[in-house]
Amino acid sequence: MDTGGRFARVGLAGMSERHLPDILSIERESFNLPWTENMFLAELGNPDGWTRVAVASSGRAVGYAVCRELAGAWRIMDLAVHSHWRGSGVAGALLDEFLERMGGRSDCVLEVRVGNSAARRLYESRGFCKRGCRPGYYRDTGEDALVMVRGRDTKAGGILLAIETSCDDTCAAVLEGEGGVLSSVRHSQDEVHARYGGVVPEVASRAHVERASGVIKEALVQADAGMGDLSRVAVTVGPGLIGALLVGVQMAKGLAWSRKLPLTPVNHLHGHLASAWLADPDLSFPAVVLLASGGHTMLVRMRGKTDFQLLGETRDDAVGEAFDKGARLLSLGYPGGKQLDELAARGRANSFSLPVGLEGDNTLDFSFSGVKTALYYLLRDLSEEERRERAPDVAAAYREALVRPLVQRLRTAAERESVSSVAVVGGVAANSLLRRRVAELGEELGVHTALPPLRYCTDNAAMIGAAGLCGTVLEPGEYEDLQPVASLRVEAVPGVDDELH
Ligand code: KG4
Ligand code: ZN
Repeated sequence: MDTGGRFARVGLAGMSERHLPDILSIERESFNLPWTENMFLAELGNPDGWTRVAVASSGRAVGYAVCRELAGAWRIMDLAVHSHWRGSGVAGALLDEFLERMGGRSDCVLEVRVGNSAARRLYESRGFCKRGCRPGYYRDTGEDALVMVRGRDTKAGGILLAIETSCDDTCAAVLEGEGGVLSSVRHSQDEVHARYGGVVPEVASRAHVERASGVIKEALVQADAGMGDLSRVAVTVGPGLIGALLVGVQMAKGLAWSRKLPLTPVNHLHGHLASAWLADPDLSFPAVVLLASGGHTMLVRMRGKTDFQLLGETRDDAVGEAFDKGARLLSLGYPGGKQLDELAARGRANSFSLPVGLEGDNTLDFSFSGVKTALYYLLRDLSEEERRERAPDVAAAYREALVRPLVQRLRTAAERESVSSVAVVGGVAANSLLRRRVAELGEELGVHTALPPLRYCTDNAAMIGAAGLCGTVLEPGEYEDLQPVASLRVEAVPGVDDELH
């Protein structure tokens, strides 16, 4: 601590109302979103709080700290020093007195602007380590907050448990802090829903309840880890089926709370996008990613791992849904995308001509409902024998009509955005024709192409963990009220955006 010079003329005291005028003026000069007088008054009377002011010999308050205990961890809520007194040890003295008062009994957490290197250095010098980040936390500038922690076991290599139950797959995965996947377990409910020809929300919810704890245990066993090894938990909070999401979110909250671990709420769409870099560290930004699954079809521009912008999306059915409906018309079972793909591989796409939605339009949107209806009429007009014999050709024509607009729009977006990578993610990224065409497109455009392995294309928790590692860290005391949401935009950052509270 620098006790020389001007600091010798400063003493520390408990904060009281008479300090507030000085404190409010320091607050206003220090922060773009300053605390109000009422916020300070609430802290003064808070039995779980600790406040201190640094007072100069003139009697003026020149710095202050406001801390509070929340769910077993102390939080430094506000700490600031008058601009004339910065660099003279006042902040360090306030921090040291606070840490001494805590006596190393509990953890201590704080957020600091990523760009505030002086504050970061101060906290690092007192043993705080980086634990995570809160993208876009500071609403004034959109800057990220760095979450720093002291006291807790902050050893590097702490591991993350990720849980995904947004639709009809019960998934859990364990990831290293650096992003390596230690295990990824997926329990598909396809069999359960096959007899209904589609996902029944209540049935999915019940199946998640029955399977979730077994799947989580299995993920831990395969990772050779126990609950005690975990340093954080990540969970899908939306978009998806609300009853299915509820199971994973409550489970994750309960597990995190029982160990006083931080929780990261993840947007399922960010999970799919994260699968692009999960197994492909060469993915460079900016990138355009085609997300094509059973529930979504969209083009997203990624400038980084937390910077997403929607460029276009389907105006009606998702392409996976169109594959599944086509498979049903061809009596291939449920979900059917994979079977249709395999059947199409034996047929000739140019045997039939099917319409492509929005073809020729200057748009990055998609439409798949027309081609599905065209398939219905095509099959209706064939005899039973023709339907059997020509099935591979019909499947090939249908697959072509679904894949062509995907690749066309991806090309337009990649050219328009002058990207350095293109990627395809989501269940339909398993499609063999789409993979081939996108690989060719990447080569032709001279950009890197990311095609995740099939296990990361369909819903899985490894991708949720990969997104969670760069997502918002919520501490115990901050996530108990967190609720899942059925619809969530791709730009929405859970834990920061209001739509989740
Ligand atoms: O990503 P996902 O597991 O679930 C959602 O989040 O929606 O995607 C499942 C979808 C299903 O519609 C399935 O038929 C489709 O992906 N799918 C395929 C293939 N494999 C899975 N569609 C076309 N070709 C495939 N090979
Ligand atoms: Zn999905």
